[in-house]
Amino acid sequence: MSHVLEVCKKRRSIRKYLDIPVEWDKVVQILDAGRYAPAAGNLQSWKLIVVTDPGQKRQLAEAALKQYWIEEAPMIFVICAKEERMVNYYGERGKQYLLQGIATMAENMMLTATDLGLGTCWVGAFDEDKVAEAVGCPARARPHLMITIGYSEERVPVPPRETFESRIYLSKYNNRIKNLNLVLWDWSLQMEDSAREGKAKAEKLWDKLKAKVKHHKDEIKNRMKKEGVDTE
Ligand SMILES: Cc1cc2nc3c(=O)[nH]c(=O)nc-3n(C[C@H](O)[C@H](O)[C@H](O)COP(=O)(O)O)c2cc1C
Repeated sequence: MSHVLEVCKKRRSIRKYLDIPVEWDKVVQILDAGRYAPAAGNLQSWKLIVVTDPGQKRQLAEAALKQYWIEEAPMIFVICAKEERMVNYYGERGKQYLLQGIATMAENMMLTATDLGLGTCWVGAFDEDKVAEAVGCPARARPHLMITIGYSEERVPVPPRETFESRIYLSKYNNRIKNLNLVLWDWSLQMEDSAREGKAKAEKLWDKLKAKVKHHKDEIKNRMKKEGVDTE
């Protein structure tokens, strides 16, 4: 499996953090990943504020509709952006581009953090004015999202994801794909999948068989013991 796909699957929203600061060399790598995200016209109209101060973190938690767990994160990124510049270049569509650009850089950073062993959570529910006040964001810009970062104190199960069939279409809306590998004529992937499934089934069967044999062996041993036969 692609390493990037592995990291995509490994990333979880983390809302409980250990009281350990994040190493600066890791922070720099995460920020760098954000810089390399695609951006409409390569305009990169965002600004990012790194927050570690406990008082500010409390203010941000309050602003985030009282999601107090966020102040326990050792670090919070606040991402702000100026809409005006994007609208000057692209008209109304510029507003969409701005949000799309922020989302790509945010995901780049969260995946890099995951790969470096850190937990993150996207925080989008907040009072913009209160967040702006906490980080001194000027009126010409707006805070768009926050990301908490730190070492996770929890193991979060994978939340259910929609199936390929229900979300991915081929050529036309609603043209569902039952088996993507077969549609794309990729028999090797299909065979790999079938072999994996077969192996898992065989292993399950083998475990069942071993348990049954052990059960019968124990039963025979017990009976022999009862009848005074030395089983050692
Ligand atoms: C636009 C957006 C806003 C979000 N806002 C919040 C938030 O305010 N608080 C929170 O705890 N999680 C927030 N999340 C995280 C989602 O709840 C989370 O991604 C989702 O439940 C799937 O879980 P996963 O990230 O572990 O795959 C947000 C995610 C996105 C993309």
